[in-house]
Order: sequence, then C-alpha cells, then structure tokens
Amino acid sequence: MTTTGVVVGAGDRGYDAYARLLLDEPDLGRIIAAADPDAGRRERFARRYSLGAEDCFPGWEELFERPRMADYAIVATGDTHHVEPTLAALAAGYHVLLEKPMALDEKDCRRIVDAAARADRVVAVCHVYRYSHVFARLHELISSGALGDVVSIQQSENVAFWHYAHSYVRGHTRRSTVPWLLQKSCHDLDLLTWMAGAPAAEVSSFIRPTELTDANVPDGAPEYCIEGCPHSSTCPYDAVATYRELTPVLGDLAMAERPVGLGPAAKVLRAVRPTLMERDVAGSAHRLQWWRWPVAAVTDDHTPEGLDRALRTTRWGRCAYRVGDNDQPSAQTVSIRFTNGVLANFTLQSNSHRTMRSVRVDGTKGSAWGELRALDGWLKVADHRSGKVRSIRIPTAFDGHGGGEHPLFRDFLRSIRTGTPPPVSAAESFESHRIAFAAMDSASSGDIVRLDQAETTHGAD
Ligand SMILES: NC(=O)c1ccc[n+]([C@@H]2O[C@H](COP(=O)([O-])OP(=O)(O)OC[C@H]3O[C@@H](n4cnc5c(N)ncnc54)[C@H](O)[C@@H]3O)[C@@H](O)[C@H]2O)c1
Repeated sequence: MTTTGVVVGAGDRGYDAYARLLLDEPDLGRIIAAADPDAGRRERFARRYSLGAEDCFPGWEELFERPRMADYAIVATGDTHHVEPTLAALAAGYHVLLEKPMALDEKDCRRIVDAAARADRVVAVCHVYRYSHVFARLHELISSGALGDVVSIQQSENVAFWHYAHSYVRGHTRRSTVPWLLQKSCHDLDLLTWMAGAPAAEVSSFIRPTELTDANVPDGAPEYCIEGCPHSSTCPYDAVATYRELTPVLGDLAMAERPVGLGPAAKVLRAVRPTLMERDVAGSAHRLQWWRWPVAAVTDDHTPEGLDRALRTTRWGRCAYRVGDNDQPSAQTVSIRFTNGVLANFTLQSNSHRTMRSVRVDGTKGSAWGELRALDGWLKVADHRSGKVRSIRIPTAFDGHGGGEHPLFRDFLRSIRTGTPPPVSAAESFESHRIAFAAMDSASSGDIVRLDQAETTHGAD
C-alpha cells in the first residue's frame, strides 16, 4: 500500500527535506497537493512534484477546508505558524509530519498533543538528529548496555560564528520571541531526554546576551559592510566575505575529513576563487556564484549585481553590530537532572570555528564520545574493565542533518501504513519543549525549575 501526502509551506524544508525521497523511491507514494502563499514557490513545487495548478493552494486554510484528499500532511511553515495548520490538518483527518519547534509555548504544545489523541492520528515531530549516524549509533550503544547505567551526559551545540550572524543576527530568527534554545536546540534537548531514558525533573539555565549590538560597533564601521569597512579584513562577520567571497562556508568545508578529498578541494577553491572571479576565467564569475544557502536567503537575484544590491540595501549586508533589533543570546547553558538520576549539561554557543555538535556519555561500565559535523562525524567508545577503546564508523551524509532526514521520513510513512509507533510523537517531543520553556524561565528568574511538580509559566493560563 502506498501513501499520499500534501505539503503545507513549500519553502526550504517543504520543498527539499522530506518529499524529495519520493522522487527517488516512488513506491513509497506521492505528494498530491501543496499550499504556499508565495506563487513562485508554488510553481517551483508543482514543477518538481508534477502537480497541476488545481493541486496548489494559496494557504493551508484553503487546503484543509476541502474534504481530506491524502493520508498525511507535512507541515513546514515557519516557526510561528505550526499550531493552527496542524490542528486544521488533524481536524480534516490527516496524519501530520510537523517541523520543529512544534509550538512556542506549553499551552499550544498541549493543544497539539491532545488534538492528535482525540483524532487518533499520528503527529510526528521532525527530530532528525535521532536518525543521524552519530546519535543513532550512540543510542544503540546505550540501549545495548555497553556503557552500563548512564550517569552523566555532556553535549554542546557549537554554532559557527558566521552561521550565528547569518541566521540569528541578520536572519529571520534574530528576535528572541522565538527563543534560540527552543528553535535550534529542541533537537538537543530531545536527544538528551532520549539518551537519559527518562523525563526531566529539574532544570536550571544561564544566558549570555549577544555581543553583536550597537554598543560594540567597531570604530568607523559603516552601516553596510560593502561601503568599505576599515575592519573588513579582520571582522569575522564581514558580509562581503560571507556572501560574495564565501570565505567562512568554504572554510567550514575545508575542515571536512570526509568525503576524502573534499577538504583539500575546498581549500584550493577558497584560494583560487577570488582570482577566478575577478578575471572571469571561462565565465567562472557566473559559475562560482554561490546561490544556495546561506546566499539563497539573501536574494532571489543570483547575478553578481543582484547580490551586491542586496548587500547594499538589506539587513543581510548590514554591519552585524548594527542590525539593531536582534536579541538572541550569544550563549546559553542548561543543566538537567532527569527523574532517573541522570545528570546532563548542555551548552548552545555562537562562537565556534565550525558548526558541530559534540557529545560525551559516561556510564558505570563505559564511556562514549564524539562529534557530529556538517558532512561527517566520529564516535569512540571505551570499556572500563578491559580499557579497550574502539572507533565506530560514521558514514558521510550530505543532508546537513547527519543523514537523518530520509530515515525519519521513511519511519513516519511506515508508521502511518502499519500502525507502528511514529518516529518522535508530539507527546514525546513535548518533553524536550518543556525543558526549553523551563530553561527560559530559569534564566530569567534565576531559580531552579522543577518539572516533576509544576508546569513552567510559558503559556500557562
Ligand atoms: N528539522 C530540522 O532539523 C529543521 C531544519 C531547518 C528548519 N526547520 C524548521 O522548518 C520550518 C520551515 O523552515 P524553512 O527554512 O523551510 O522556512 P521557509 O521560510 O523557507 O518556508 C516556510 C514556507 O511557509 C510558507 N507559508 C507561510 N504562510 C503559509 C500559509 N498560510 N500556508 C502555507 N504556507 C505558508 C512560506 O511562504 C514559506 O514558503 C521552520 O519551523 C524551521 O525551524 C527544521
């Protein structure tokens, strides 16, 4: 039996992340309709997924007022628009694959969990990292008993300085009305809960505010980096280096150990690209324009002139210290005691040399530690009694999520086809969201928040 789906929000995730699997494996089913207010995105989606104009809707409202036309809905709208389309999809009888974060407060999370139960439908939240090669192997190790009883976990999400400036200073998620910890790290809080194997009992948290404010503008820096900043050769956030020269993205790739050869190739490209661009060797100025993320977020005009115009006139080109309305923190720490006694420390920080997660789990019989990076990763495990340390092979992955996207989607489809438990249900994901809300409460009150006794204040009536 194959399944059919509809996509709500034909942006980056709706267009690319999950549905693409169906083009490679048509036996798994088809996408038969999509909704997005952006006509260009609807057309792009219709082309790739072979939809007619009548299958494309200007919004989820128009799609879900029709009688149910497919088995499931992928809800991939922006962070502030997850709740209403999910409730409407459930009311119309669809199963739902919902992008994270499921909702921005506790009350709305609960509305989704309750509505899924009432409708007897699956709502799975896209916690792709459970399916990433590093964390899937790590969880297998814990479940196998190889580490004995888990005692403590240390994890950090190390966001590269340029990625932070792109997404959380200049980008859409620069306002803490959608807290960075919830938006970015509900994944990590989910992984910690999954690895600990129990719900959280107590949470405390500290926040360091961002350095990227007016108060720290370097002397003489203009409003837009492209206007000729005296600090352009030393400032890590220089917009021209980030978006035109791609220095930090290529720098990140140059650090890749796998696939073998990519690191050296990126190093060479980084070195020769400016010359090729300047001399336009064999039209390279056009071909070497980087038009995908993060540049794709800056402009839809992929010509060199279009990019320069965006860097002169939009916030993507502004001095990172002068954006003005950004207030996502620079770092946040979270300490958690789980109800089974496992202790965890988590750090989300914005000053890493490259984007990567690091993790360490120590148990009564062994330790495991590793890193998950954009394309590759590694994991080691040590046995206390024998003293042996072994490396676990981690395959290269190209989806930017450690290889987790398609396995998660496959599992979701299996779940709605066969009735087996979904990847990460809304009820399960709610645990990670509750920790994020408690951490935000703790960081602002200075108190330890108890989750086994009372609810957090986020969204409480
Ligand atoms: N699981 C992950 O690891 C992961 C990774 C990245 C992003 N995300 C999450 O995925 C979500 C989408 O991110 P994105 O980068 O694709 O954003 P995006 O802005 O590219 O796409 C969102 C789309 O929703 C559309 N939209 C707005 N109102 C709508 C309506 N009423 N009906 C239908 N569509 C509507 C927008 O026009 C846009 O095309 C976000 O919540 C983000 O946090 C999750």
